[in-house]
Amino acid sequence: MKTVKVPLGDRSYRILIGPDLMQQIGKQCQKLKLGTSCAIVTDDKVGPLFADTVVKSFEDAGIRTTLITIPNGEQSKNLRLVHQCYDRLAEARLERKSFVVALGGGVVGDLAGFVAATYLRGVDFVQIPTTLLSQVDSSVGGKVGVNLKAGKNLVGAFYQPKLVLCDLDSLKTLPEREFRAGLAEVIKYGIIDDARLFKQLEKEIDRLLQLDTHCLEGVIARCCQIKAKVVGEDEKESGLRAILNYGHTIGHAIEAITRYGTYLHGEAISIGQVAAGYLSQQLTDFSIPHADRARCLFEHAGLPTTIKLSKPQRTRLIQAMQLDKKVSAGEVKFVLAHQIGHATPGHRVTPDLIHAALDHVSK
Ligand SMILES: NC(=O)c1ccc[n+]([C@@H]2O[C@H](COP(=O)([O-])OP(=O)(O)OC[C@H]3O[C@@H](n4cnc5c(N)ncnc54)[C@H](O)[C@@H]3O)[C@@H](O)[C@H]2O)c1
Ligand SMILES: [Zn+2]
Repeated sequence: MKTVKVPLGDRSYRILIGPDLMQQIGKQCQKLKLGTSCAIVTDDKVGPLFADTVVKSFEDAGIRTTLITIPNGEQSKNLRLVHQCYDRLAEARLERKSFVVALGGGVVGDLAGFVAATYLRGVDFVQIPTTLLSQVDSSVGGKVGVNLKAGKNLVGAFYQPKLVLCDLDSLKTLPEREFRAGLAEVIKYGIIDDARLFKQLEKEIDRLLQLDTHCLEGVIARCCQIKAKVVGEDEKESGLRAILNYGHTIGHAIEAITRYGTYLHGEAISIGQVAAGYLSQQLTDFSIPHADRARCLFEHAGLPTTIKLSKPQRTRLIQAMQLDKKVSAGEVKFVLAHQIGHATPGHRVTPDLIHAALDHVSK
C-alpha cells in the first residue's frame, strides 16, 4: 500500500492506495475517530459490486450505516438528488458527528461531497473512488458540487475529505473504455509536471492496461502526489492550479458541442491535449518530437486524438470555449507545455491559431 499526504494545514488528509483496501475502511475511519454512524452514497452500478464489503467493514468497526443509492451517470449530479440525500440523512438521524462516505466514481464523489459540505453546515467526508479518473483526479483537491441546467459544476464548494481510500481491485470491474479515459488524466500529469512519469507510461502503458497492481499503485500514487502538490500550493484555484486544465479548454468545448453524449471526458481531453501540444509547439519551446511523443502515448492508450468537425460544429466549438467558466473577461487562455514535464497557464492564443490547432486534430 502507498500513502500520499495532501498538505493543507489542519485540513490535511491521507490518500491510501493499494489492493484489498475496502475491507479496511471501517478500521481506518475508527482510527481517525470519525464518529459512530455514517451514510454511504453510491450508485446503482457500484453499489451492487462493493456496498456489502463496505457496509460489513463499518459494522465490524461498530459504525452504523445508511446506504443511499442513486442512479449512475452524470444526470444524477443535480440539486434534486442532493435534496433527497439530505432527507435520507435526516430520516436516519445523522447528527453533526456522523460522516458521509462516497463510494463510486466522480459523480458520486462530487454529489456526496457537496451533501457532506452543506448538511448541518458540514459533516466529515470520506471518499472511496472506484474509477481511475476519480482516483487520480476528482477525489483529490476538495472540489465538490453539482450541475445546473445552465452548465456543469455551477453549484459547489471547496471541501476536503478526512480520508481517501483507492482500492485498486475496484478497477477490475470498471469498463475498459472508462479506464482508458482515466489514462488521459494520468498522461496529463506526465506532460504538465513529471517527465519521469511520462517515460514510465511510455514503457508500461500495456502493463497498466492489464491492471498490473504494482504498476497501478505507483502511477496512481504519483498522480495523486502531483495533484496534491498543486492543490496544496493553490487550494482555491487562484493561479497555479490552472495547469491541471491542460487540454481542457478545447476538451470541455468538445464535450459541450457533442452534448456530453459522444465522448467521455478523458476522450475529449485526449483530443484537447493533442491540440494543446500543437499550440505549445507554435508558441513555446515545445518541440515537434515532444508533441509527437505525447500524441503517440494517447494513441497507445487507445484514446482518440482526432475529431471530425463540420463547419458549424467548429464555430460552435469556438463559441463554447468562450463560454467556459474559466475564461476571464472574454479572453480564452491556454495552458501550454514547454517540454514534457513542464507546463504554464495563462497563454493568450489568437483565433487564427485556435483554428490551426483544430485543423491539426481534424480527421
Ligand atoms: N471534483 C473534481 O475535482 C473533479 C475533477 C474531475 C472530474 N470531476 C467530475 O467527475 C465526474 C466523472 O467521474 P467518473 O469519470 O468517475 O464518472 P462516473 O462517476 O460517472 O463513473 C463512470 C461510470 O462507471 C461506473 N463505475 C464506477 N466505478 C465502477 C467500478 N469500479 N466498476 C464498474 N463500474 C463502475 C459508474 O456507475 C458510471 O456508470 C464528472 O461529473 C466530473 O465533473 C470532478
Ligand atoms: Zn479532467
